[in-house]
Amino acid sequence: MDSQAKLHSLFPRVEIEATVSRLASEVTRDYHDKPPLLIGILKGSFVFLADLVRLLNFPLEVEFVRLSSYGVGRQTSGKVKVVQGLGSSIKGRDVLVVEDIVDTGITIAFILDYLKKKKPASLRLCALTDKPSRRRVQVTIDYLGFTVPDKFLVGYGLDFDEQFRNLPDICVLED
Ligand code: IMP
Ligand code: MG
Repeated sequence: MDSQAKLHSLFPRVEIEATVSRLASEVTRDYHDKPPLLIGILKGSFVFLADLVRLLNFPLEVEFVRLSSYGVGRQTSGKVKVVQGLGSSIKGRDVLVVEDIVDTGITIAFILDYLKKKKPASLRLCALTDKPSRRRVQVTIDYLGFTVPDKFLVGYGLDFDEQFRNLPDICVLED
């Protein structure tokens, strides 16, 4: 890990806990009687998804899709690729996509489109963070944790060049 990196905590772990618990209540309200398939977008969503599912006390299933859009660094390449797709059919399922951050929206718009073609009964999005100032593609976020400023964030699953995913807080990585 880069020992020179300047980090400051934006959302400490207690605040994240409260927010994930609020999201779990919203998801429970809407899905407790129709077992959803949660699809986590790798890698960034893995910490959030792990905390979220442990607060959901009803039947559900978990799948992952791995995408790549960012090369190295902070700028999106604008080109999204499915690196690892779904293992089974989602036709007729109530699908809830779980994402770490919606930035330009290009990644999530791509994956929602990709999933919609597979004919789920319903398709919604739960995002931990939203950076609306950078949006280039319109996206509806059905369940949102935090609206965040136009800063590069790391921690709680979010990375910079694969580093910092393990930080328990969501932090700003200073230039
Ligand atoms: P988008 O396609 O620009 O919306 O980018 C979405 C993806 O870029 C996310 O799933 C993240 O993996 C990554 N990303 C965007 N902003 C940040 C950030 O501030 N920190 C870490 N990763 C980010
Ligand atoms: Mg991601």
